[in-house]
Amino acid sequence: MTSSLFDPIDLGALKLKNRIAMAPLTRSRAVEGEVPNPLAAEYYAQRASVGLIVSEATQISRSAQGYPNTPGIFTEAQVQGWKAVTDAVHARGGLIVAQLWHVGRVSLSDYQPDGLPGFAPSAVAAEGQTMKPDFTMAPFQTPRALTIPQIEAIIADYVHAAEMARKAGFDGVEIHAANGYLIDQFLKDGSNKRDDRYGGSVENRLRFMLEVVSAVVAVWGADRVGIRLSPSNGANSTMDSDPAAVFVPAAAALKPFGLAFLHLIEGEPGTPMSIKGDAPQLASDIRDAFGGPVMLNGGLSRATAEKAMTEGRADLVSVGVPVLSNPDLVERWKTNAPLNAPDKATFYGGGAKGYTDYPFLETVQA
Ligand SMILES: Cc1cc2nc3c(=O)[nH]c(=O)nc-3n(C[C@H](O)[C@H](O)[C@H](O)COP(=O)(O)O)c2cc1C
Repeated sequence: MTSSLFDPIDLGALKLKNRIAMAPLTRSRAVEGEVPNPLAAEYYAQRASVGLIVSEATQISRSAQGYPNTPGIFTEAQVQGWKAVTDAVHARGGLIVAQLWHVGRVSLSDYQPDGLPGFAPSAVAAEGQTMKPDFTMAPFQTPRALTIPQIEAIIADYVHAAEMARKAGFDGVEIHAANGYLIDQFLKDGSNKRDDRYGGSVENRLRFMLEVVSAVVAVWGADRVGIRLSPSNGANSTMDSDPAAVFVPAAAALKPFGLAFLHLIEGEPGTPMSIKGDAPQLASDIRDAFGGPVMLNGGLSRATAEKAMTEGRADLVSVGVPVLSNPDLVERWKTNAPLNAPDKATFYGGGAKGYTDYPFLETVQA
């Protein structure tokens, strides 16, 4: 019998009470030192009825950052900020993993400690614009191509961040390998033009991701590590000429690790960050190749989430914007209650407005 969204599921060592996760959502509200906002504990705790919270992306080092006021996970002060969040989520019976993030070429020189452009597999700029520290837009810059010692140093940064996430009381980590950030830049041929062991063949393009996974698994154990992939959404203008040829082998190469989950952005077309390609086929091929639990994301409603599970494309789903604007989304989906509309103007930056003040069902009905 097919499982329902409201059934529990085990992802490795993580015992989820239902199959609706909160997708990672950058909110650009960190305070001095890229420390989580004191309001973040309440924001995440309000959403603890989901089976699993994936935190907003957290940069693993200073040079990994590429957006204003995003929280880090590499200093003691950041660890203390996150500890308040994980304690609050646990007090409400929730689970939370930290999303580990390096933006690669999506960074700008304004974010880099040395004032030079960010780092990437190759010196190829993304097309379009991105956000400066003052929230205004600027064109992407041509990044610096990473040397082998620099690649090794970034893997060490992942290890450090993974250790700090443990210290901060997270239940595990999700490696952000999606949406045109550093790992995705290595995976896709539009951004990876290297001719050494990190570029060229699919096997070589998978290498950086697999080295990061291996390093993070050594810290946490595979049963508390997940990974997020976005084969075909083209986010941050990072694309591959043949996503199936890279991402089905990527899933197969991840299989032997026995990771807790694979988080796949390959849901419904037509929403930001969701797919442009043939989602149903690719998602089920990736699920077959991975062999472990697949969390599907992208524009899903209760109906399309259930359909994806029935059709064998997902073991569970994650939901972004609807959880941002509905702290009690699980209850609302369960009872087919109406949803609060999201306020896009307060997605990034600011304080409590559009963050901790979305009403719960009781408040709406009262
Ligand atoms: C405001 C906002 C912030 C986001 N931040 C992140 C992030 O930090 N990490 C990430 O992997 N995806 C991020 N995403 C993508 C979402 O996790 C998700 O893939 C996307 O919103 C589609 O799912 P949904 O239709 O359920 O919202 C963000 C999306 C939005 C709208």
